Amino acid sequence: FVMAIKTIQGTHDILPGDVELWQRIENAARRIFSRYGFAEIRTPIFEWTDLFSRSIGAATDIVQKEMYSLPGSKGRSMTLRPEGTAPVVRSYLQHKLGHSKKIERLYYIGQMFRHERPQKGRYRQFHQIGAEVIGSESPAMEAEILHMLTRLLSELGLDNFRIVLNSVGDTHCRPNYLKKLQRSLSPLIGDFCNQCQARAKTNPLRILDCKITACQELVKNLPKLADSLCDGCITHHQELLSWLDEYEINYHLDETLVRGLDYYVRTTFEIITDQLGPTQNAILGGGRYDGLSELLGGPRAPGYGFALGLERLVLLLSGRDNLKTEYTSPKPQIFLAHLDNGALRYCVKLAAELRDQGIHVLVDYEGRSLKSQMRLSDRLGSAATCVIGETEITSGRVVLRRMRDGKEIPAEISETGKTLLGLIS
Ligand code: HAM
Repeated sequence: FVMAIKTIQGTHDILPGDVELWQRIENAARRIFSRYGFAEIRTPIFEWTDLFSRSIGAATDIVQKEMYSLPGSKGRSMTLRPEGTAPVVRSYLQHKLGHSKKIERLYYIGQMFRHERPQKGRYRQFHQIGAEVIGSESPAMEAEILHMLTRLLSELGLDNFRIVLNSVGDTHCRPNYLKKLQRSLSPLIGDFCNQCQARAKTNPLRILDCKITACQELVKNLPKLADSLCDGCITHHQELLSWLDEYEINYHLDETLVRGLDYYVRTTFEIITDQLGPTQNAILGGGRYDGLSELLGGPRAPGYGFALGLERLVLLLSGRDNLKTEYTSPKPQIFLAHLDNGALRYCVKLAAELRDQGIHVLVDYEGRSLKSQMRLSDRLGSAATCVIGETEITSGRVVLRRMRDGKEIPAEISETGKTLLGLIS
């Protein structure tokens, strides 16, 4: 008795029939992103652990609890990528992409790994479509990327979404805010949840977006980040909003949107829906990360981007009737049936030639009798069948039979492809 092996918790197979929707989303993203000047980049699935701890932040949930790490050479730790921004910036710096090639707009599609508690919309291996713009501080560019996202989502037929925005300040104003926050927190902290009490020490900003209602009530009494922003951050934020008005994009401001990665400065945003439940409501998230390049040892290179959770988008779209596909195996255009082993060799060569001409061909390798080959051809829904034996091989002529009405038509073997297409079109 051998126990059957199944997928690991939090991971999923994407089967034929489901893959089509994934491809549709990916194709739409590729098509739309290229209109906005993005080039695809593919970075490794695993990287040095420091890449993530330095950029995402040592005190974040991702780095503290969710990374799949393993020892690499000389004991230096490696990690399955939990996100794509740090790898893209690493690659941008390593290959001096902005410098030599002027490549500043990059997108990626691929697996990410986080050791989270699996639930609907939250997995341990999941897929992101992300895009990053490196080298621009412009709020107009930020609005352009949000515009691109609305185009992508509406092309996919999604309309129930909200764009939520915030500014989390920058290295000038955030330290002051954090001091104020710590001061007001200390008399109250005992009333917050355990996680917030821990966050107060390591990552107090994250208290602002705690999902627990009691904490949310308490947060209302804390100083507002918006009241502490410096002039530069205020102007940036207002310019972004006015560009969004220019594009006629609706948005909602949410002062508590601080997001779970430490590299953000100024703009943070999410696109959320109420159809995924309260905790996994973000279809995508992103923001500005102007200091990330320097954190990774590079020169100043301001950045901005987002990543979309493909599983979440698939969950939202897969219920739609117009997107449902029942997987059916593709139907052969011709089934080449053989009478004996010698004929099988001939069939195999002819099949290769026809496939080179773009024709979908099937041949039987299971030693079926002619009768059961004919039945199989019928069952597969082949458009035509051709029987090959001694006679056909010596004469160099075959007969093609159209399955839907039994019409038969002779052909030179060398003309099989052309005759077939005439017969079945
Ligand atoms: P993030 O908010 O951690 O941001 O992830 C972005 C999106 O990935 C989420 O909104 C969600 O749709 C999806 N996602 C995250 N974790 C999971 C999970 N465990 N299961 C399923 N889906 C998940 C980032 O990753 C940043 N790198 C985004 C970014 C790009 N910021 C600037 N540029």
